[in-house]
Order: sequence, then C-alpha cells, then structure tokens
Amino acid sequence: MAGNSFGQIFRVTTFGESHGAAVGCVVDGCPAGLPLDIDTVRRDLARRKPGGGGVSTSRQETDEPEILSGVFEGRTLGTPIAIVIRNTAQRSQDYDKLKDVYRPGHADMVWDFKYGFRDYRGGGRSSARETAARVAAGAVARAFLAENGVSVCAWSQSIAGIEAPSSSDNDFDIQEAEVNSFRIPCKRTADMIAGKIEELRKAGESAGGVVECQARGLPAGLGDPVFDKLDALLSRAVMSLGAVKGIEFGAGFAAASMKGSESNDRPLAFENNGKINYAGNNAGGVLGGISNGACLVFRAAFKPVPSIARKQRSLDRAGREVELEIAGRHDICVCPRAAPVVEAMTALVLADLMLRRRADRYDTI
Ligand SMILES: Cc1cc2nc3c(=O)[nH]c(=O)nc-3n(C[C@H](O)[C@H](O)[C@H](O)COP(=O)(O)O)c2cc1C
Repeated sequence: MAGNSFGQIFRVTTFGESHGAAVGCVVDGCPAGLPLDIDTVRRDLARRKPGGGGVSTSRQETDEPEILSGVFEGRTLGTPIAIVIRNTAQRSQDYDKLKDVYRPGHADMVWDFKYGFRDYRGGGRSSARETAARVAAGAVARAFLAENGVSVCAWSQSIAGIEAPSSSDNDFDIQEAEVNSFRIPCKRTADMIAGKIEELRKAGESAGGVVECQARGLPAGLGDPVFDKLDALLSRAVMSLGAVKGIEFGAGFAAASMKGSESNDRPLAFENNGKINYAGNNAGGVLGGISNGACLVFRAAFKPVPSIARKQRSLDRAGREVELEIAGRHDICVCPRAAPVVEAMTALVLADLMLRRRADRYDTI
C-alpha cells in the first residue's frame, strides 16, 4: 500500500494502526542543527488530546512521544528523525462486532473491498489515531518555522452550524480557544455550542464543523506552479485528513458571488523586507499558487463523526442488511482535535516549501 509519505525535501512517513503497538513518524530532510526537544513534541500532542465537555472521545491515551533517532544534545542531526507514540488505551473488544459489519460513513467497507484484509480494531489505519503521528512530525516542522519567524494557528470557527466571530471581530479571542473544550475563540459561542452538543449526545448524534487556519510571518514566494502551488499542496495535505469534505482560501466560496472590483486585493505599497502591503486579503495570502506575503488564511469543513451511538441500518460482509449499534469511544465533533492536526499538516507543507524555495533562483543560490 503506497501513500504513507508526504513532502519532497522535508519528507514525512507515518506508520501505525489505532489498536496496534504504536503510531509514529519518520521525518527525513530536516536540516541539521535545529534546536528540538521532546517537550516541543509533547506540547503539540497534548493539544490534540481529547478535551472535556463531552465533545471528544473518552479514550485516554498518554500520548507520550519517544524520539528514537535524529536528535542529539537537543539539536537535529540532519539524519532521519523517528518518533514513536505507543498505544496504551486500546479496548479492542468494543470492535469485535465491527469485524464483519460496516459502519455507514466510515472507511470500513471500501477498505475491505480494496485490500480484502484489514485491522478492524478501532478503525485500524483509517482511525484518527494516525493523526498523532502527523502532529509529532508537525512539531518538528513548527520548530523549523519558528526559527524562521513563521507561526501557524488553527481553531474551530463553527461547530454544529454555530459560528464563532471572525478573526477580525472584537469578540474573537484566541486565548479562549485554548481553554474551552471546543477550541472556539469566543466564550459566549462556546457556551452555546456546549448546549447543542449535549442535545446531540443525548440523541446519539454527532456534529460537523469548520476549522480555520492562519499562518503569519510567511515570506512571499512559497509555492511552485503548476502542480505544487501553495494552495494545491495545502489542499492535498488537509484533504488527506479523515472527515474533511471541503477547503477554501481567503474569501473562498463567497468570492464566487463578488464582483471583480470587490474581490481584487489592491496592492498598497512595497515594504522594506520585500513584502507587499494589500488593502484586503480575499486571496487568503496566495496568488498564482505563490504566497504573496499576506497572512495565509484557509478554512476546512469537517463532516459529522460517522460513528454515532444511535441505531443505524447497514450491511455486513455477506451483503445482508443488519441493524448496527456502535460501541467504542468516539468524538462527537472532530474540530477541537482536528485543529492541531490541521496546524501540523500546514507546517509540514510550509517547511517543505521554505526549503524548496532555496532552489528558486540562480542569483540567490
Ligand atoms: C481528529 C479526528 C478525530 C476523529 N474521530 C473520529 C471518531 O472518534 N470516530 C469516527 O468514527 N470517526 C472519527 N474521525 C473521522 C474518521 O476518521 C473518518 O470519517 C473516516 O476515516 C472516513 O473518512 P472520510 O470521512 O474522510 O471519508 C475523526 C477524524 C479526525 C480528523
């Protein structure tokens, strides 16, 4: 099975299944000498852990990362960085019933049809447990970006149709997103969502939502037309996460109903650092697939979690209709835990493009 590696120079491979011994990653191509300590990785993994508020799975993993190679005396060696996160809280018996029955909306059935053999425990490799490995790899990329003045931040912009204020609004509070269970940047909105989530939980239902991500401090010039445009690579990175059904940059789908004069971001002035100042950011920081020096802004739409508690009708392996009641510990909405994973995938794309950019021009090599 191919498709477990990502990136060209800063290249990541993830491995592991939900109820196997461990998940982990190998990061190849990270330059030597970058300061990196285990606490950086630990901190990012802690942000992906289930929070309270009944919105996240009750599976309590320790998520303790172990760096096996590539780091010496607190700095990267330039050799492959292998990080392993052992699985410690599997409850595989919850999945015995799912051995021969397919969950509607999950990957079980197509996986079985394609490969003919799968680890059904906890969703195997199609489980979001795999995203812990991406976050560990992303922590390395974020350390590299931080050294280069670039920061990446994501939060839940809406959950179950309830919208948080936009990042330009006075009510927007990014500190709040780090303390409530929904990763929503507004206490009032988070309280409203808490009520809605409780209602859905009682009904055995789940919810979707939107994660917004912004990257600041990006140099202009990231992204390689035509197939490796910045927005194309980010779309690929984010769409590779389970449950993502859409992505939009800047004004996104709303741009489709604007006039040209409304949609165009007027350039105002060249700054000393080679950046360009714009009157707006409908482009979301990308023009022609190349970063334009403005803040990178995109949003990803996540569907409701497919494993719901209420009874559903489905098919078994033999094609017989069955009634299914799903046991196991599942998120009700993925957004609070998906936001750090979106940050990780964004950081991986940006770190790779920052390194690739060095080869852009003969006169700067
Ligand atoms: C952070 C995160 C957490 C998730 N948690 C669950 C979960 O607890 N239960 C579940 O059935 N699906 C969960 N999913 C979604 C499934 O992984 C996904 O829907 C499934 O693999 C099918 O893929 P698709 O929705 O992209 O078609 C989660 C996804 C993410 C990104």
